[in-house]
This record gives sequence, structure tokens and C-alpha cells, in this order.
Amino acid sequence: MAHRVLRFISDFFVYETAKSVVVKSWSVGIINRVVQLLIILYFICWVFMHEKGHQLRDTGIESAVMTKVKGLGKLNNRVMDVADYVVPSQGGSSFSIITNMVITANQTQGYCPETDNNYNCTNDDHCVKKLGSNLGNGIVTGKCLNNSDGTAGRCEIEGWCPAENDKVLGNPMNEVENFTIFIKNSIRFPLFDVTRGNFPSNIDKTYIKNCYYDPVNDPFCPIFKVGDILRHINQSLDNINDKGGEIGININWKCNLDYNVTDCNPTYFFTRLDAAFENSAASQGYNFRFAKYYQSADGTEHRTLHKAIAIRIEIIVSGNAGKFNSVPFLINLVAAFTSVGLATVFCDIILLNFHKGADEYKAKKFEEVSGVVSESANNRLYEGSQMSIKALEKKSNDSGTFSIGRQDPSNQ
Ligand SMILES: *[C@@H]1O[C@H](CO)[C@@H](O)[C@H](O)[C@H]1NC(C)=O
Repeated sequence: MAHRVLRFISDFFVYETAKSVVVKSWSVGIINRVVQLLIILYFICWVFMHEKGHQLRDTGIESAVMTKVKGLGKLNNRVMDVADYVVPSQGGSSFSIITNMVITANQTQGYCPETDNNYNCTNDDHCVKKLGSNLGNGIVTGKCLNNSDGTAGRCEIEGWCPAENDKVLGNPMNEVENFTIFIKNSIRFPLFDVTRGNFPSNIDKTYIKNCYYDPVNDPFCPIFKVGDILRHINQSLDNINDKGGEIGININWKCNLDYNVTDCNPTYFFTRLDAAFENSAASQGYNFRFAKYYQSADGTEHRTLHKAIAIRIEIIVSGNAGKFNSVPFLINLVAAFTSVGLATVFCDIILLNFHKGADEYKAKKFEEVSGVVSESANNRLYEGSQMSIKALEKKSNDSGTFSIGRQDPSNQ
């Protein structure tokens, strides 16, 4: 038992030091160089492919958007200009272009028949709510207003009268397809303090007045035709004009600031944001209501109610910038050079296992030297040269590390 423990201890306290074995073999030599070359080539490719990995990245893009819509249309026999159809009018990154409206003029507070079919009068003059229906245009009083022809009438409501009837909808404003949206977008990458605009500041004034954005011919023109946007997202004007809808104009900035800053330009793409609800039965399209209030001469309050069907436009800005960063690059480079050593591992496997004379290589590579070096071993090592033995003995006397535990040959 004690013997075993002793052996374990002596096996544990060993020191391993590398010894170079030069193998003059064509086959292993070629394999070694080829593998080294492959590793280097792999790393060069890797460094180029992961160019972005060596960049300092700024994803905190700061952005400001200004918009201006232009065009004239006709709706309900009225000519509509920007002040009529753009809501809100400030020209921000989110706005609606009204394409159709139900206008209920001259409403006042009072009692009147409900236009909505949510409540019905039964033949015995009772007002009942239809199952699963929404709120109507006012508070239901419970009274029935009989039709003059004796048929079941409508429930009475208290609220703004006359009640809106949004089932009567005229033709939409089809001229919207020729309306233009001018977009001014300025962005900043705070990390690199780089500021850019979505069109060059030296752009020709007459060009900018007459161009329309086109991904191929005019990619930097900041004027977008509504009809073109609809074509880009394969939507028909009729569909969006009937029910309204939401369109996203995405401005994407991807900038590599290792190149000239003038190459930092945006790309645009368009999406139908409400596409998820396109075939939904519950809430299709986009509409909203607003009212304009006024007082008549006798002091009663009136309002004109508008139910607007609109194309809502959202301008979404995203992007990031990158610049070369030496730290990850150097780390990768060091990793690459270290990996060249893998060729040795690979060649060792071949040499020590599959090459002819593997046992001989093994013996040469892993040589065990015990603490006690006998004279005969010395003689074998430095065969035929008395000089070298003397040199070794001299050296062993000088060097503490080499001679620890070594018995003086003269004692034997
Ligand atoms: C839009 O403009 C084109 C070309 O100017 C014109 O042919 C077309 O009729 C216009 N569309 C509408 C709805 O007015």
C-alpha cells in the first residue's frame, strides 16, 4: 500500500518539457505546410467575412423627420387641399391623408332616431338591443319613434342630433395616387458624432422639385408619390381608399464609417403596417372621427362631425454605424497565429499513429529521463567524444537545475 502511494506521488511530481524532434520526411513535411497554409487562408477569409465583428458599433441612432404633402383632390364635390386632408398638419413622422369622409353637418344636442341598427324597435313598441352590437350614436332612451307608414321604427337616442349615418359613403378622393410626400430626415450617430441628411445638401433645386423617388433611377430623391408607394407594396388604390390603411415608410441607415462619410446614405422600403388585419372581420382599415364646433346666433352650440377614412403614414427610421476597432481585430489575429500550431497537432497524430516507423518516432518524442542518470547513459548520449562528456560534467557542476538529485559519476 505504502509502495503504491509512494509511486503515485513520484508519478505526480514530474516535469514535462518540450523537445524538438526534426522529422526529415517529405510526406509529413508537405502535410505540415499545407495544413499551416490552409489555416492561414481560413483565417484571412474569416477576418474579411467578419469585417463587422472588428467594428465599433453605434446603434443609438438619433433621428428627426419632417414631412410635407402636396396635391389637390376632389371629395364630395369639394376641392380638397393639404389643410383639408392632412391630419395632423404639423408635418411630423406620423400623419394621415384623408381619402373619404362622411360629414354630418349641423348637429346639436337633443333627441332623435338612431341611425345605427344596434337597437331596434319591436312591433309592440319596445326598444331592444341587438345581440353583440356596439354602442350607438347616443344614449338610448328606450322610447320608440314610429315610422309614419306604420312599420317598426327606430329607437330614440339622446345625443348629437341628427345622428351620423356612416353607411352613406361617396366616392373616395382618387387623386391621392398623384399626391406627393416630401420627407426630410436628419440623423446623428452620437458615438461617432456623425450627422447625415437623407438627400445631399448640394442637390439641385430644380431636380428636387421635379423628381420622384425610384429605387433604381432616383434613390436619393426625397419625394414619394403615394401611387408609387402602393405599387411597391402591391396594394391597390381602391382597396386602401375604401377602408383606409396604414403604410410604413422605413428609412434605414447602415453606415460603414471606415469609408467616406458621403457614402453613408439611407435606403427606403415600404410596408403595409396593418397587413396582419387585412382579412380580419373585426377591424379592417383605418378611420377616425373629428368635429368642428361653432355657435349659432341664438347661442346654441353646433358641430359638424367628420368620419374620415384615411391612409395613415408612419415614417420609421432605423440604422447603425460601424467603424474599425483595433482591439477585436488584434484578438482575432493572435488567435489566428496561435491556431497555426494546430498543424503540429495534426502532423503528430499522423506521425505517431499512421506513419511507418511510428514506434520509433514515439520513442524519440517521449523520452523519459529519470532523476538518476547513469554513466553508461551518459556515454550512450555523447558516444565517442570524451570532450563532450567532460563538457557535460562541467556544465552539470555549474548548473543547479541540471544536477539536482544526480549522483557524482566518480562515486559509482
Ligand atoms: C394622376 O396623374 C396622371 C398623370 O398626370 C393622370 O393621368 C391621372 O389621371 C391622375 N390620376 C387621377 C386620379 O387624377
